[in-house]
Amino acid sequence: MKKLLSASILSANFGRIAEEVKAVEAAGADWIHVDVMDGHFVPNITVGPDVVKALSEVTSLPLDVHLMIEKPGRYLEDFVEAGARWLGVHAEACVHLHRVIQRIKELGVKATVALNPATPLCMIDLVLPDVDMVLLMTVNPGFGGQAFIPNVLPKIRQCRRLIDEAGLSTLLQVDGGVNPENTGELAEAGVDVFVAGSAVFRGDYAQNIRNLKAPMYQK
Ligand code: DX5
Ligand code: ZN
Repeated sequence: MKKLLSASILSANFGRIAEEVKAVEAAGADWIHVDVMDGHFVPNITVGPDVVKALSEVTSLPLDVHLMIEKPGRYLEDFVEAGARWLGVHAEACVHLHRVIQRIKELGVKATVALNPATPLCMIDLVLPDVDMVLLMTVNPGFGGQAFIPNVLPKIRQCRRLIDEAGLSTLLQVDGGVNPENTGELAEAGVDVFVAGSAVFRGDYAQNIRNLKAPMYQK
């Protein structure tokens, strides 16, 4: 299947966020990845539903919203009303993960379950048939520009196998430290959706996106 590039606005210039989103859309991004952080689940604080709504008015690309917040179940309606097309919650942040995922689907958007690098895949065995995408973090969430953690690669391969063996169409996404040196190996490991922030938002965005995508199809 076609590989998708989800551009993380965490590395964009927040003073010109609308222009930045239009620029990466023109440069060939497939989705816009919005990192929502609450200063509790992760140390950093970013944006909420109002910013998602503003972005939904300037781009036609799907908004891929990654909630790095405690008890994300409290905010699902707000993010869906704001225009999230994909809504992701961390398994580590949900006591009632099954319920949260069902609620996202009831709200009519795609449900993503995310796992930190040190969280084993067995945490999501029982919800795998229910989600539309699995997001495997390849850095510890909280900040852009961190180094890719190679220990996650076997987990990525194992997740791909689980999805395929179950005959599911669940997408597999990675987020963190994605750059032109690792997109080939990640594609080979079975990744469908690549989140990239710092590798996109510097210099020539179109060239950066071409550099990220080219190795995905080489193997
Ligand atoms: C990290 C965020 C990522 C971040 C990735 O907590 O979830 O989406 O923007 O940034 P890069 O691509 O710079 O590692
Ligand atoms: Zn993210």
